[in-house]
Amino acid sequence: MRTAQDLDVAGKRVLVRSDLNVPLEGGTVTDDGRIRASLPLLQDLLGRGARVVVAAHLGRPKGTPDPTYSLAPVAARLEELLGQPVRLAHDVVGESARDMVGELADGEVGLLENVRFEAGETSKDDTERGAFADRLASLADLYVDDAFGAVHRKHASVYDVAQRLPHASGPLVAKEVEVLKRLTQDPARPYAVVLGGSKVGDKLAVIEALLPHVDTLLVGGGMCFTFLKAQGHDVGSSLLEEDQVDRCRGFLESGKVVLPVDVVAATAFAADAAHDVVAADAIPADRMGLDIGPQSVTVFAEALAGAKTVFWNGPMGVFEMEPYAEGTRGVAEAVAGLDGALTVVGGGDSAAAVRALGIDEARFTHISTGGGASLEYLEGKDLPGLTVLES
Ligand code: 3PG
Repeated sequence: MRTAQDLDVAGKRVLVRSDLNVPLEGGTVTDDGRIRASLPLLQDLLGRGARVVVAAHLGRPKGTPDPTYSLAPVAARLEELLGQPVRLAHDVVGESARDMVGELADGEVGLLENVRFEAGETSKDDTERGAFADRLASLADLYVDDAFGAVHRKHASVYDVAQRLPHASGPLVAKEVEVLKRLTQDPARPYAVVLGGSKVGDKLAVIEALLPHVDTLLVGGGMCFTFLKAQGHDVGSSLLEEDQVDRCRGFLESGKVVLPVDVVAATAFAADAAHDVVAADAIPADRMGLDIGPQSVTVFAEALAGAKTVFWNGPMGVFEMEPYAEGTRGVAEAVAGLDGALTVVGGGDSAAAVRALGIDEARFTHISTGGGASLEYLEGKDLPGLTVLES
């Protein structure tokens, strides 16, 4: 893979695809991890006199401009972090974008509006995607992809544009791939994976792919209830994917899966709802589990003790609400406290949880910026954004 370092960028217009898909609240960025992770490439290119044009997505707008998903708050935060002005175009490839790019001087940076405001970005139709990629490519001389979190998407700004411009990978993509390779190629043992989050259906493929290679699989978060159900327990009104129960039962037969033994069960999905710690096999019918309980944290920490490789994806509970944050905090502490182990936090929510809970990021070997991307990498899937960079 050619890297940005191999490109002569002085005076050139460089289109950079970054993953700036960050959480917002009331128009303010609440976790700027991805923006900070994108800085080294931008600073390097600007320092070498490039005219940097950043393309990024935010949320999932439906192929048409939608102010809710404007990158304006991201541009403001990027400007603060870079310590230099960041121009924001009001469209992606229209007049505003062309003017903005035309006005950039060497060492200046501009951000295009959310690429998903254009239907061509995510289109399944190669011609439609290609037409949009042509317009994007016309804004630049070179293309660098540093959006690791989006490399699993066959989208115009990730895939097609790389076929139209001399291209290279950025340092974030390179670093992410290097760490994930260590997880897939002969990982030091014992190797434990911790999975949480709400969507068991989305993670079954990764469980299937990982189970033969790991020594222990710890399951918490909203997805643990489908596993508890597969063990024959009632889960009250907890999140349940009934159609996945049989598959989860199959995974339990491996003998490698560790489930919570207690959960924090609440009367409603709300921070001020009545809640108690109950045994995982005795969740009352009118209660929903919103976090793993304290005994589960101990069980998980014991299962992790001595691990030499750990991959953790997905929070253990609704950590955004204080009464349900302790499970995620406990597991994060257990992973962070492992001595001499390779510890990787995969993705969006778990990475945000580490920062939101105030746990020092430096206590982990690596905090990935890619949720879906890191899971698909571990699953062994072909990632279009990486394949095209290798071509
Ligand atoms: C992410 O948040 O995982 C990446 O930014 C990709 O976003 P997407 O799942 O909406 O494609």
